[in-house]
Order: sequence, then structure tokens, then C-alpha cells
Amino acid sequence: MKVVLAYSGGLDTSVCIPLLRERYGFDEVIAVTVDIGQPPADIKEARARGSRLSDKHILMDAKEEYVYDYIFPLIKANGCYEGYVLGTAIARPLIARKVVEVALKENADAVAHGCTGKGNDQLRFEAVFRAANLKVVAPIRELNLTRREEMEYAREHGIEAPAEKRWSVDENIWNRSIEGGELEDPDFEPPEEIYKWTVSPEKARKPEIIEIRFERGVPVALNGEALDGVLLIRRLNEIGGRHGVGRTDILEDRVLGFKSREIYEHPAATILLTAHKDLERLVLTRNELRFKELVDKAWSELVYHGLIIDPLYEALNAFIDKTQERVAGEVRVKLEKGSARVVARRSPHNLLSKEVSFDAKTEQRAAEGFILYHSLQQRIFEARRHERA
Ligand code: ARG
Repeated sequence: MKVVLAYSGGLDTSVCIPLLRERYGFDEVIAVTVDIGQPPADIKEARARGSRLSDKHILMDAKEEYVYDYIFPLIKANGCYEGYVLGTAIARPLIARKVVEVALKENADAVAHGCTGKGNDQLRFEAVFRAANLKVVAPIRELNLTRREEMEYAREHGIEAPAEKRWSVDENIWNRSIEGGELEDPDFEPPEEIYKWTVSPEKARKPEIIEIRFERGVPVALNGEALDGVLLIRRLNEIGGRHGVGRTDILEDRVLGFKSREIYEHPAATILLTAHKDLERLVLTRNELRFKELVDKAWSELVYHGLIIDPLYEALNAFIDKTQERVAGEVRVKLEKGSARVVARRSPHNLLSKEVSFDAKTEQRAAEGFILYHSLQQRIFEARRHERA
């Protein structure tokens, strides 16, 4: 019996390996780690620990695929759920698909993940696993293990338990998320050292203006230099981080009904989403903008819920892609003490009318006829009210 495990190298998934053997009777455990821009040290650790604990450890580099096929659609959709830029949510289906790929190639009997029964990730992994018709094993949830019991089990099995961490961190190129531990108390103010990607806005360097070029709704250049997506996001994380841009502390509504306190860091996401939304305001019509807001919200909810296999996801993307044909141009963003603010933008598709100018000799009197009928119902309503009084 063979099982393929989505393996991050952390405590939950490390404990899963001996559990899959002892408690589930698998005699071959394959651990798959997917590189989507985690810190190199984490990848190294996953590789070392994974190779030692499992029968076979496979590392897959999916950074480019992640950026082009998952993050770029997210930028076009202004992806955001309750203020969260969806970095964990959008990554899970990709990781799950990589695990499925290995499971099919290896002719495995099941796939496994290390999620608990409280979070959103179990839903996201299993939506993909189950769509592939694979048997799913979720040891931590099924054996109802607490963090303490996991630490105990790890010690007994010679797993150099990843040091007792103060909180749980999940990180990839789009955002860093921190939850659990003392953060579960919404009244607990996190210490500065919880942040790794951003300096405190108070300590930010002096303001800086950067320029991002978009084509078809996605960023293609920074300060005039064409960059591939992975590099562009990395650079923006560094630059924005130095200005303290992209910190979020929110109370989030999980799919399962729990509220949870979440801290996020995401300098590049803040800069790119701010710039992208601004450019859309320049080139899309009022009708497009209003409708797209609804589409963006539906898109973000599907992603948060881990349901990107739903045909609605494809349909929404088709609409979004159509609107993005004209989302091209340059946006200048000022980074200043924790904020990212658009200060200038230009596009060949801009819909501003020259006639609005104070200096243009337009037929102003033409507005009167419009005004007469614009407030017709309000005039009648006022008249009726006075009649009744
Ligand atoms: N609340 C976010 C989500 O559901 C992030 C969870 C990330 N996990 C973590 N251990 N920090 O997508």
C-alpha cells in the first residue's frame, strides 16, 4: 500500500509520515514538497527531513506556474477576501494538483495531507484530491490530535520536533500568514518580531516612487525594466517591505464558521493590487467597473473556499480576461511610511474626456435638458408629499 503526502516539512506533516505507517498500515510513504517561493531554508529543511522520514521525497519547483497561472489571474480579479490577499488559499489547489500528479504516476493507493479539522486548507486540498477520485487520508484530523500530542509523538519517533513555535506560519511568494498561539486572543497586540517581510512603518526609509507597467491586466515591468513575474513580485516584496507596506491584522471568517485572528504580510500584493485597481478605473467604463466588482467578489470567495474546479471559476475568468484586454499602461506608486498610494497613471486606453476640462469650449448648455429629466421622479415625489401635507 502506497500513499503520497503533501509535505511542507513542518510539525503536522512530519508527524504524518510515521502515522501513515503505524496507524494506517501504508508500507510506502512518498512525501511531495512543492516550491512556490517559500524561504530557501524551509525548502532545505523539508528536503532533509522528508528524505530521512519518508521512503521517497520529491521536490517540485512550481514557482513560475504559481505566479503565471494562479497569482496573475488573482491580480486581474483584484483577489481579496475580507482584506486577505488569498496567498494560502490560491496556493493549495496547485500543491494538491502536484500531489495528484505524483500519485497517478506512482500508482498510489491514496493521497494525504496534514491539515487539522478546523481550518480551510483541508477543504482546498480535498476538493482537488476528491475530484481526481483518489482515496484521501487526513491523519491529524482523523486521529483528532492536538499540537501537544503531536509534539509528544514526534519526540517518541525521533523527529527533531521543529522547535516549539510561538505561532503557525505559512509562507509563499504572495504572502506570509501568521496565526495561532497568543494571536488567538484578539486583544493580544503582536510584538514587532512577528513581522519578517516588512519593517515597522515608523522605521521606514524616506519615500520612494516606483513605476509599474501592466499589459492585459498583469505587471510586466518595474521602473522601465521588463521582468518575469517571479522576479517582479520578489523585487516588490523587498522594496515594499523596506517601506513597511503590506501589513494586515484581521478577524477572518473561515469557511467552517470559526472566526480567526490572522496577521498577514504582503508588500508586493498591496502595491500590485492598488496599482491594478487604479488602472482599471482609468480604462474601464462605469458599467464594467460596477459589474466587475461583483465578479471579483465571487471570484475571491470561490478561491477562499477552495472551489476553483467549479465551472463558475472558468466563466468568471473568461469575463475578467475580456475586460483586461485594455488594462495596459503605467502606474506610479508612492511608497511612504507603510502606505502605497498611486500618484500618476497613463494608458493609451484611458477613457477620460477632454471635454470635461475647465478650459474646453464645450456646449455646457446641453446639460440642462438632461438635468430636467434626471430628477423627474424626485420632483414628482416632492410635489405629492406637499399635496398630502
Ligand atoms: N487564514 C488563511 C487561509 O485560510 C491562512 C491560513 C494559513 N495558515 C497558517 N498556518 N498561517 O487561507
